[in-house]
Amino acid sequence: MSFEILPCPPDRFAELLLTSEIGFGEDLPDDQIERVRKLSDPARFVGALDGGRFVGTGGVFGISLSVPGGELATGAITFIAVLPSHRRRGILRGMMRSMIDDCHARNEPLAMLWASEGTIYQRFGFGLGTWSVNLEAETAASRYTSDWPAEGTFRLIPAGEGMDLVAPVYDAVRSRRAGFLSRTPDWWAGQLPRADKDARGGEVKRLVVYETDSGVEGYAVYKTKSDWNARGPHGILTVNEAVGSTPRATREIWRFLLDVDLMRVLKAWRLPPDHPLLSLVAEPRRLGVGIGDGLWVRILDVGSALEGRTYGLDGRARGRITLELADEYCPWNAGRWLLEIDDGHASVRRTDADADLALGANELASLFLGGFTATALAASGRVGELRSGALGVADTLFPTALQPWCPQEF
Ligand SMILES: CC(C)(COP(=O)(O)OP(=O)(O)OC[C@H]1O[C@@H](n2cnc3c(N)ncnc32)[C@H](O)[C@@H]1OP(=O)(O)O)[C@@H](O)C(=O)NCCC(=O)NCCS
Repeated sequence: MSFEILPCPPDRFAELLLTSEIGFGEDLPDDQIERVRKLSDPARFVGALDGGRFVGTGGVFGISLSVPGGELATGAITFIAVLPSHRRRGILRGMMRSMIDDCHARNEPLAMLWASEGTIYQRFGFGLGTWSVNLEAETAASRYTSDWPAEGTFRLIPAGEGMDLVAPVYDAVRSRRAGFLSRTPDWWAGQLPRADKDARGGEVKRLVVYETDSGVEGYAVYKTKSDWNARGPHGILTVNEAVGSTPRATREIWRFLLDVDLMRVLKAWRLPPDHPLLSLVAEPRRLGVGIGDGLWVRILDVGSALEGRTYGLDGRARGRITLELADEYCPWNAGRWLLEIDDGHASVRRTDADADLALGANELASLFLGGFTATALAASGRVGELRSGALGVADTLFPTALQPWCPQEF
């Protein structure tokens, strides 16, 4: 069976998204299609066609990803699906080649994605960039370590409003953490409650903001689901996103979420492993913590990616390290690279000098956002130390003081 991979004709964009719906076994309502259309450049979506019909889909959003000390243009790969009738014939492989080469041609130093299954994308050089800590907490039992006096106030915001209140909070946190995505108003519209969808009802998105004399310092988007059992109320509160730009806002917004009446279980996803909540509660195990893969990252251009972040816990490191990089999928990256780092900034060039560390594209991607140490990757045999002490040098350069955090799937 033959197929061809082509950019999506603009007039077939909805058809392409509806094909992906079959691959995911999920509904894609019309309003969702319109929302995706607003976020997308159809020229960056590809279809695999068999006899003129779509049998595979993929697309890329152009997004700016926060990295240590800055941000970089990144191809956000999305809507990957192949019809069950055409699986395991190389269609994903063909679409990925086309999308990765296009991102590279557009000078995006990075690509990223959320994987339906972690095993799929490592073969293309994606490495784990962020962990996703997931909670299924018993609200009453988690209790805070201290009975902090309440500070500030909360305000429930009507659906369709509030973007101007919360975007500065998100941007403040984004400037301090790698892993956050840039958000245009159209992206925000998908995150926040919408007037046409969430204005009334029990199980709809709600937005609450936390305010002090300094203004809005935190917010949460959440849903509640009423439930009752023989002992009484047993509601479930699901947190879509909760962000505080100050320590007190983080503490208060989570206290608000844990204290909503009639709710007994709080579910949350996509938190970083160093999220403050884990050290605020008296009974951490009652948070029902699980951990899984979060954002997967692919370095498309070693030079501009490595020069596009800062190094050192304070972002001001000095040092040098030579990497022997294996990268079969993007062979233009393979070879030996010298990083000379001064005041946190790297100058990166090819070298013939002896290498300090040997690693692959996946491992460099994991080091890139700062959430992994070279020593930890070496402990699982994924990084090789070619010069004694080189792991220690890498550990002073790549990790960040705060773990990277990607609070949003796309
Ligand atoms: C995942 C999916 C896109 C794969 O498409 P596909 O066209 O069957 O993949 P390919 O034939 O190009 O496979 C490429 C390689 O990945 C492997 N692979 C693909 N899907 C895999 C999976 N789910 N688990 C493990 N390996 C997988 C193949 O075995 C193949 O390996 P090889 O080249 O070493 O032989 C398809 O199965 C699908 O649509 N699944 C449901 C929706 C989904 O999960 N999409 C991904 C969203 S992030």
